[in-house]
Amino acid sequence: MSGTFTKSMARNIFYGGTVFFILLFLALTFDTQTTLPKRDNRANLTDAVARGKKVWETNDCIGCHTLLGEGAYFAPELGNVYKRRGPEFIKAWIQAQPTGAPGRRQMPNFHLTDQQLDDLVEFLKYSSEIKTNNWPPNIEG
Ligand code: HEC
Repeated sequence: MSGTFTKSMARNIFYGGTVFFILLFLALTFDTQTTLPKRDNRANLTDAVARGKKVWETNDCIGCHTLLGEGAYFAPELGNVYKRRGPEFIKAWIQAQPTGAPGRRQMPNFHLTDQQLDDLVEFLKYSSEIKTNNWPPNIEG
């Protein structure tokens, strides 16, 4: 091969590269579109989950806790608390606050109704079913 790099070689690399990456882009888009529905748990998105999310937001739980790794680092991760603790523990825990245990960080009492507690549990259940590829790695945050 000679040492010269001609215009037509440059053009071929340009067109070849463009076609290659367009095809790669289309293949990856197709792959994403076929994979996403399998990850989705939108079917579990009930009204109770939506109401629970509202309770979560209006009481600023995220001001102390993380949910799937996002939020504040004062208190444990709650994205997986439904699986770690179960619904009854969560409700009893929230009603029993503050513990007043010496040397432990405290959580306030939010005076939630039974309905709000049930909705919150539904929201935490939904959150625990989101496929996150095991994120966050430290289960209690
Ligand atoms: C002012 C900070 C603060 C706020 C706001 C807060 N928490 Fe907490 N929460 C804590 C602390 C601190 C702990 C851990 C206490 C301990 O382990 O003794 C905790 C623990 C928990 C636990 C038990 C976690 C586990 O791993 O066992 C649950 C469930 C929980 N909180 C739910 C909530 C919900 C739901 C809200 C919103 C309605 C909320 N928290 C708002 C501080 C807070």
